[in-house]
Amino acid sequence: MMTAPAANRVPVVLGDRSYEILIQPGILSQIGQVLQDAGCSGRVGIVINPLVNKLYGRVVNRALTQAGFSPFFIIIPDGEQAKTIRWLSKILDALVKQRVERQDMILALGGGVTGDVAGFAASVYLRGIPFVQVPTTLVAQVDSSVGGKTGVNHPQGKNLIGAFYQPRMVVIDPCVLKTLPPRQWIAGLAEVIKYGMIADKPFFEYLEQHVEGLRNQSDDVMPHVLRRCCEIKAEVVAGDEHESGRRRILNYGHTVGHALEAWGHYKKWIHGEAVGLGMALEGSLAHYLGMCSKDVVERQDDLIKRVGLPSNMPKMKFLDLWQAMQHDKKIIKGDIHCVLPKRIGDVCVVPLVRESIRKWFSVQLLSSSRLTNAVRNSASRTRPARKK
Ligand SMILES: NC(=O)c1ccc[n+]([C@@H]2O[C@H](COP(=O)([O-])OP(=O)(O)OC[C@H]3O[C@@H](n4cnc5c(N)ncnc54)[C@H](O)[C@@H]3O)[C@@H](O)[C@H]2O)c1
Ligand SMILES: [Zn+2]
Repeated sequence: MMTAPAANRVPVVLGDRSYEILIQPGILSQIGQVLQDAGCSGRVGIVINPLVNKLYGRVVNRALTQAGFSPFFIIIPDGEQAKTIRWLSKILDALVKQRVERQDMILALGGGVTGDVAGFAASVYLRGIPFVQVPTTLVAQVDSSVGGKTGVNHPQGKNLIGAFYQPRMVVIDPCVLKTLPPRQWIAGLAEVIKYGMIADKPFFEYLEQHVEGLRNQSDDVMPHVLRRCCEIKAEVVAGDEHESGRRRILNYGHTVGHALEAWGHYKKWIHGEAVGLGMALEGSLAHYLGMCSKDVVERQDDLIKRVGLPSNMPKMKFLDLWQAMQHDKKIIKGDIHCVLPKRIGDVCVVPLVRESIRKWFSVQLLSSSRLTNAVRNSASRTRPARKK
């Protein structure tokens, strides 16, 4: 029996829910062997969208069939529209129709959208069947496929319905990233920078020194980057699977980032772009509150810009930002909790006080060219209020 190529393996240690992340260029064409080596068998429902199906459906189908599996496809739409109860229900219908049993499995082949909805379907079908994540975007490879957060959106908010449900395995083929549109690629780099900021100064310095390699998806740089991001995510998740404590540090850049995404009706920025802007603003806030030095913010913002992430804020009013932040899932007993940097590689979670945020927004950033428009707008609104 042929064995799959030796892969870079990152363990996610979660007791009886432990699993491995396999990182190996070209591993997609060996996926059948990989699953067989891991003791899987039976039918495999491949959840996939039409674009990824066109690119990688055939190679995965062939690899699974050759290894003795019986794969079938469950096609969902491209984009966030697939992360709905409606599409969850359609996936479940397909599983019922195919008479999928407990020992069969779901394979999520695609970006974060596919992984989230397919994982959620796996968590509820027959009270849970095995599922494997095969992420094909940078966001999915460094973030969404690891850690077991699955779910769909509600009309009132993103990711409001879901479950913690760990995959049996995460299989990462860096080669599939070559077909990503540049905008998707660069957006994913925001999450990469986030890992350096929250947990690993030497990694942050490595990123600073390899900006060209990051921008060009260099084969010398990317395997290390993917591995380090997965290691950090695995370590954080292993210590706090259900996000009651330390796992919250993964939300750095996301309190403001999610607010910007919602404010822009999920059209103005894609997720990673909003996270990049969110880190810039949360870093600036941390400096304003005296929590970190100017150097920390400058180095972070410089890296964000150099990789090509957007750094221009739109004309935005403080109240719009604040109200959009109120919908964040990380509100605890009415307080917005935000991750703020102390140093590069070290962050903390703090409750945000409205008045100090307003002052930061309208005063501290007045001199910042990046935010000039936003702040002018805010200042003109808040000045009369102060006279009252
Ligand atoms: N579960 C988690 O922990 C977690 C973490 C972060 C983000 N998310 C979720 O992930 C989603 C965002 O994920 P995403 O950024 O991967 O978006 P996505 O899944 O929509 O993929 C982005 C685009 O890239 C295309 N694509 C995928 N792989 C490709 C490839 N190899 N080549 C060319 N095109 C490809 C997709 O078809 C899509 O059009 C959001 O719904 C977000 O809430 C979840
Ligand atoms: Zn994110």
